[in-house]
Amino acid sequence: MKVAFFDTKNYDITSFEPYGKDNGITFKFYETKLNEDTADLARGCLAVCAFVNDTINAAVIDRLCELGVKLLAMRCAGYNNVDINYAKGKLDIVRVPAYSPYAVAEHAMALLLTSIRRVHKAYIRTRDFNFSLNGLTGFDLHGKTVGVVGTGKIGRVFIDICRGFGMQVIAYDKFPAENSGIDYVDIDELFRRSDVISFHCPLTEETYHMISSETIGTLKKGVVIINTSRGALIDAEALLEGIKARHIGAACLDVYEEEGDVFFEDFSGHIIADDVLARLISMPNVIVTSHQAFLTEEALGNIAETTVNNIIAYSKGEKSGNELVI
Ligand code: NAI
Repeated sequence: MKVAFFDTKNYDITSFEPYGKDNGITFKFYETKLNEDTADLARGCLAVCAFVNDTINAAVIDRLCELGVKLLAMRCAGYNNVDINYAKGKLDIVRVPAYSPYAVAEHAMALLLTSIRRVHKAYIRTRDFNFSLNGLTGFDLHGKTVGVVGTGKIGRVFIDICRGFGMQVIAYDKFPAENSGIDYVDIDELFRRSDVISFHCPLTEETYHMISSETIGTLKKGVVIINTSRGALIDAEALLEGIKARHIGAACLDVYEEEGDVFFEDFSGHIIADDVLARLISMPNVIVTSHQAFLTEEALGNIAETTVNNIIAYSKGEKSGNELVI
């Protein structure tokens, strides 16, 4: 069984190839992203394996169907880049709903600690034998209020981590979990009260630009914003203005609205065309990682195993439980 694998990185080959071989699947690894120009590479394949920045719109779905592709196996949890409604009745879709909520939640805390204790600055200083502490004053997390938006698998692990630090946790979720012991508030109150806000909800029409020029004014002055969810939850230009106005204290971004053009690739030595991203990165109180939160050995192994199991179940006409569209 052949599967076209788009947006391949070395760590994907390392984690997927052994599982594929053991289960009679030949992955055709392509570095290019899946889009209208590259869909033809899936010719002769039963399934296509795609990731967060591939484009699976109506045109791509039509082309994949013409080529005889039956299954889209997303090797991620989020699927905002897939036209789910258009795919119905045309292309079956599976995904990996959970692979390591710990990986993402721990990365969110790593970004937060790095940012507020200026570890990124200290690291560069001491490598240059500069042992001065000027400008490195941080603040305690203990006793601060963290607002968690989205209390699903990742949000809850993040809540546990924050409680371990002695933080006061408040949360907003469109579908609050019953009997969870979580102190839910509405989003306005969360924005008003939080010293730190961390996003763990999916990108939908409702969550698009939750942080915007309108909402930034309602945030506590000096707030630290963490986004390990999806870039478009935050209007990046508005965020930049909020930082320049010194209203936002710091931003920790593992995702970015226009990340599809730059993240996961090496642009060192190039001139970055995205002025907003370049300006954000130039700020001393902004930390950007390149959609890295998922990248742990445990998560990669789980992603490969679940994706292969999803494809095998499909090929046998069985349900994996991870179907999005069938
Ligand atoms: P989940 O499905 O377990 O939890 C999502 C939560 O968001 C649910 O509790 C849901 O009720 C809530 N929600 C839905 N609509 C909402 C709304 N309009 N407002 C507030 N909350 C809403 O998902 P999980 O596994 O916790 O993942 C969360 C997000 O993390 C994913 O959607 C994905 O975008 C992102 N992610 C990022 C990764 C990275 O490497 N940076 C890796 C994996 C996921």
